[in-house]
Amino acid sequence: MTLTDKSAFETGDANEHGYKTFTIGGFTFSRDEFFAHVSWPTGRHVLSVDTFLRALQRDVAWDFFYGTVNFDSVIGTVNHYGTVDLFAGRYNEAYRRAELDHVENFDTPMLREAFKSMLDDWTNASYDPFASPAETGKPFGVKDGFNTEAVTRRRIAAARMVGVPGDEQIRSDEMGFPINRMFADVGQEEPVVEAEPGFESEVAAFNLFAYLSRSNVTWNPSVVSVCKDSLYCPTTEEYILPVFHGNDRVEWFVQLSDEIIWDVQDRDTGAVRSKVVMRAGDVAAMPADIRHQGYSPKRSMLLVWENNSADLPELIATGRAPQYPIDF
Ligand code: PHB
Ligand code: FE
Repeated sequence: MTLTDKSAFETGDANEHGYKTFTIGGFTFSRDEFFAHVSWPTGRHVLSVDTFLRALQRDVAWDFFYGTVNFDSVIGTVNHYGTVDLFAGRYNEAYRRAELDHVENFDTPMLREAFKSMLDDWTNASYDPFASPAETGKPFGVKDGFNTEAVTRRRIAAARMVGVPGDEQIRSDEMGFPINRMFADVGQEEPVVEAEPGFESEVAAFNLFAYLSRSNVTWNPSVVSVCKDSLYCPTTEEYILPVFHGNDRVEWFVQLSDEIIWDVQDRDTGAVRSKVVMRAGDVAAMPADIRHQGYSPKRSMLLVWENNSADLPELIATGRAPQYPIDF
């Protein structure tokens, strides 16, 4: 089996709904018109294919992200940065007590390729898992074409900052990024930069609000500026973050516009910890021992501020760095 072989994880022909079934390790994934079905040696699970595809899209695009990506309260992945756990019921108190949980560890490229193949096969032509539900077709029904362009979108990641020569560029109509319907009132003026001769490639500035007003995806933080391990990852949000993200480090949220409601739970058990309502201008730090899911009733702008240091998960897990960012 080679990783470039797209069919490596497919088991035979399409089912009666037109979709391939995928096997990786002891896990089997199949879909019908409405649901994704997941089975493993000690159990099985069903979830809406809508939830499943939105979560799968993010896990693929984010290359398993920081820490845990819970598709729902049962299924998900844990990133060990080189390998990935695929789990069922591992972070669910009831599954754990009943000893029905299951975890398998894969080399990252292996699970990445399996997930990419499944995402491509299960996403029909008119559905975009990154789009707001108000701006895309439905994920349901029998197999009806592909949307490979959408599910393989390039992830924006600035090396220094958006707008710096040779780096990610600001968005425009010409580039295919019109202003989103919900951000029609966002000013589009760009700052004037007057660099001293010789410093033209060192001094840059851009209008972040204008940039975000032209985002065509939701719940997809992208790196717009980098200072050593400090990454500014703003994103535009509408409807529901399709995953419960389980942190392996602290992350900061700055609500740049409108409102997001966060459900915060214990990372390992799912026990409810808090509800956080963030309005424009609010700043919050999410501790390293929680999972969270956000709800954005109207399209909003959120700055996610990440510390990308590879040392953090180990420092926090061994108690040498705290679970929270600051003592008052
Ligand atoms: C997060 O898990 O912190 C997160 C993920 C995606 C977003 C916003 C926040 O769009
Ligand atoms: Fe998070």
